[in-house]
Amino acid sequence: MIPPIFPVYLQRLHLQQFRNYTEQWVEFVAPKTILVGDNAQGKSNLLEAVELLATLRSHRTSRDTDLVRSTQEAARVTGWIERRTGAIELGLSLRRVGRRTLIRSGETLRRQIDGLGSLNAVEFSSLDLELVRGGPERRRSWLDGLVVQLEPIYAHLLRQYDRVLRQRNALLRDCAKQHREGRPLDHSSELKVWNAQLVVAGTRLIRRRGRALARLAPLAARWHGEISGRSEVLGVSYAPNVAISPDIWNLEATEQARAIETAMLAQIRDRAEVEYYQGTSLVGPHRDDVSLRVDDAPAKQYGSQGQQRTLVLALKLSELCAIESVVGEPPLLLLDDVLAELDLNRQNQLLGAIADRFQTIATTTHLGAFDARWLDSAQILTVRSGAIVSTSA
Ligand SMILES: Nc1ncnc2c1ncn2[C@@H]1O[C@H](COP(=O)(O)OP(=O)(O)O)[C@@H](O)[C@H]1O
Ligand SMILES: [Mg+2]
Repeated sequence: MIPPIFPVYLQRLHLQQFRNYTEQWVEFVAPKTILVGDNAQGKSNLLEAVELLATLRSHRTSRDTDLVRSTQEAARVTGWIERRTGAIELGLSLRRVGRRTLIRSGETLRRQIDGLGSLNAVEFSSLDLELVRGGPERRRSWLDGLVVQLEPIYAHLLRQYDRVLRQRNALLRDCAKQHREGRPLDHSSELKVWNAQLVVAGTRLIRRRGRALARLAPLAARWHGEISGRSEVLGVSYAPNVAISPDIWNLEATEQARAIETAMLAQIRDRAEVEYYQGTSLVGPHRDDVSLRVDDAPAKQYGSQGQQRTLVLALKLSELCAIESVVGEPPLLLLDDVLAELDLNRQNQLLGAIADRFQTIATTTHLGAFDARWLDSAQILTVRSGAIVSTSA
């Protein structure tokens, strides 16, 4: 075993009855860990366990029952994390039926979202190409994931907005139904209450999303310039559903909030009639998008798959740097099957960017696809049928 040559951030992981693992300890002893193995052996499952500790979410499923090993009732993932502020032991218990439990350094967290921020991670998988090609929902969820890492309180604000939105939608649905049935009722005073709440909760999201993207945009443009080796300019910007003037971002906090609230309320009033007939909320950050443009043309229509991959790589690198600058510590980088898809030149760009600064866990089916420089400082773990069967470092 090689001694830790840099402060490993995530030091150890313990999986119990998680996905296809029965029980597995993993010790991370190098800045880079490569999980190698055939398909369907458990490489992505291991990354997913880390992702869960970092974000409390999996990008592969929203149902805990999928995460528990078949035939078992409960699973547990535990990570040992070394932070500048001290060591953290974070344990997440998942049940086929029933609620999760999150334990941080011996204490069961009453509000699980308080565990966010214990471990920061950026994940990059081939699914991320959907950021360019997919619909706005995909980009919103990516942006939300980023903002949660930058300021964990955002997870709480998201929930508040979602709750208000659902209640407002339920009321609008009732209105639409009663209207169809020819017995319209006057819900205007009730709706007014929900409008006010939606506007306050929505503004909190809009401000934080705008702020995060303003931070990310120059980083993404710089990385894209570097790795594309071309003169094309990547433009990342917030495309909020609520029409707000760009000057708003220069305002002081209270004024900014007030200006966004005013704009949102005005737009809600404008759309009131349509909402009433459609029976759903049409105005607010649940309809936001992130605009990705290359040389001022929509990225979706631009370029080859390789170029879109470069764009996503630039986004991911900018996320790493944004989180590092806000949190004050470099986050973990999780690369699921993407390295083999990058040509050697891009691999080297990525390698140069992360150097030994970001602890990285990568998966692959073939080590041969890696540049030798990757293998130099890497710990290589072979995964087979839900177990790590060999270790070399
Ligand atoms: N809840 C579960 N219980 C048992 N096995 C599971 C569970 N969820 C997934 N698996 C198994 O995990 C394997 C896929 O693991 P994965 O990590 O995605 O593979 P890869 O090594 O290709 O990344 C499949 O064989 C699948 O059947
Ligand atoms: Mg996989």
